[in-house]
Amino acid sequence: MAFRAMISSRSIQQSKWVPSAGVARQMSSWFGHVEPAAKDPILGVTEAFLADPSPDKVNVGVGAYRDDNGKPVVLECVREAERRIAGNLIMEYLPMGGSSHMIEESLKLAYGEDSDFIKDKRIAAVQALSGTGACRLFADFQKRFLPDSQIYIPVPTWANHHNIWRDARVPQNTFRYYHPETKGLDFSSLMEDIKNSPNGSFFLLHACAHNPTGVDPSEEQWREISHLFKSKNHFPFFDMAYQGFASGNPERDAKAIRIFLDDGHLIGCAQSFAKNMGLYGQRAGCLSILCDNEMEAVAVKSQLQQIGRPMYSNPPVHGALIVSTILGDPELKKLWLQEVKGMADRIIGMRTALRENLEKLGSPLSWEHITNQIGMFCYSGMSPEQVDRLTNEYHIYMTRNGRISMAGVTTGNVGYLANAIHEVTK
Ligand code: LMR
Repeated sequence: MAFRAMISSRSIQQSKWVPSAGVARQMSSWFGHVEPAAKDPILGVTEAFLADPSPDKVNVGVGAYRDDNGKPVVLECVREAERRIAGNLIMEYLPMGGSSHMIEESLKLAYGEDSDFIKDKRIAAVQALSGTGACRLFADFQKRFLPDSQIYIPVPTWANHHNIWRDARVPQNTFRYYHPETKGLDFSSLMEDIKNSPNGSFFLLHACAHNPTGVDPSEEQWREISHLFKSKNHFPFFDMAYQGFASGNPERDAKAIRIFLDDGHLIGCAQSFAKNMGLYGQRAGCLSILCDNEMEAVAVKSQLQQIGRPMYSNPPVHGALIVSTILGDPELKKLWLQEVKGMADRIIGMRTALRENLEKLGSPLSWEHITNQIGMFCYSGMSPEQVDRLTNEYHIYMTRNGRISMAGVTTGNVGYLANAIHEVTK
C-alpha cells in the first residue's frame, strides 16, 4: 500500500515539492541500491555452460537427464499422454489444492497402491510446484504452525534446501551424513546427531538417491534410523525428488518411506515428477502430510491451500494432467516404469564406463565410489580448485562441490571427461 500511495502522492505534488537529498536519490532510481544476487551454485553452472562457445564443452552440472547423444528426453509415455490431453484441452483454474486425480495417483506412488492411510483419508495433500514448491509450502506451514521448531538438514544437501527453509524463516540445524574419506555414509555420526538433537525435532531426509552425494542408507540402516526417530519422537520430512532413479524401480525407491510408515510415524513428503517423468519445466509435484486422523488432515490441507493462495493462487494444470493421465492408465504406467528403468540403467552404465576409463588411464586414486553411489549424481571428491581447472582448461561444467551429474555423461564424452578428471587429480 505504502509504495502505491507514495507514487500517486508524488505525481500530485510534483510541482511544489522540493525533495531532500535522500529522496532525490530515490526519485532518480528506486532500486539503485540493489546489488546483483550471487549466482545460483547449480543453475548458475548451466548459464556459464550456455555462454561457452567451445565445441568440446560438457555439462555435468544440473541434474537433468540426457540421452546418450546428450539431448534432453521427452518420454514416450509423456508424448502419448500429451496426445490424449490434446483431444480434451482444459484451461480452467484448478482448485486451490490442485488436481485431486494427480494427488491421488501421487499418494499411491509414495504411500503404496493399497495404503490404508489413503483409504482412511489421513493424508493432507496438495499439488505443489514440483519438489521445490512442496518443500517451500511445508517450510512455510512449519513456520506458521510450529513457530519455535527448527529443521535438521543433512551435510551436505541440495543447496536449495538451505534457501527454502531460510526464506521460510525456519532456523536450521545440521546433522552429519557423508564421510569424505570413505565417500559413503557416515552412519555412526548420523545416528549420534539424531540422538543428541532435542526430542521432537524436524528432520529433512532424502527418500532416495541423495543429492548431491548419491549415498543412501541401506534398508537395515533406515530401520535403525526409524527406530531412533521413534524413541526421540522426531518428525521425518522426506524430499523424494528421484523416485525411480536410485534403483530403476519407483516402488523399491519408496522403501525408506514405507519403513517409517510401518513403524507408525507421521511423516511429511515432497514429491517431484521433474526427474522421473522428465517434466522439469512443468513444475509438477505433490506435498503430503500424514495426520493423526481425517479431521486433522482436512484442517491441514485447508491451511496448505491458504499458504499457496497468496503466492500462486492455484497450481498449473498441464503437468498435473500429464502425471494423472500416465499414472491413471495401466498401460501408460507400465510404459513409464520401463522408461524410468531405461534412464536409471543408462546412468548405471555411465558410472561403470567413467570408472573404467579412469582406471585404464592409470589413475592411482580409488574411483570405486563412482559405481557404489546411486541415482543421478556422483560426489567425486574433487576440490573446488580441481573443478575450476576442469571448467577453465577443459570446458567441463559442474558444481564446485565436486558433484558430477551422471545424467550428462554419454558414451561420446565419457573418455574426454575421464581424461580431464585424471589430469586435474594427478
Ligand atoms: C539439481 O540438483 O541439479 C536439480 O535438482 C536442479 C535444481 O533445481 O537444482
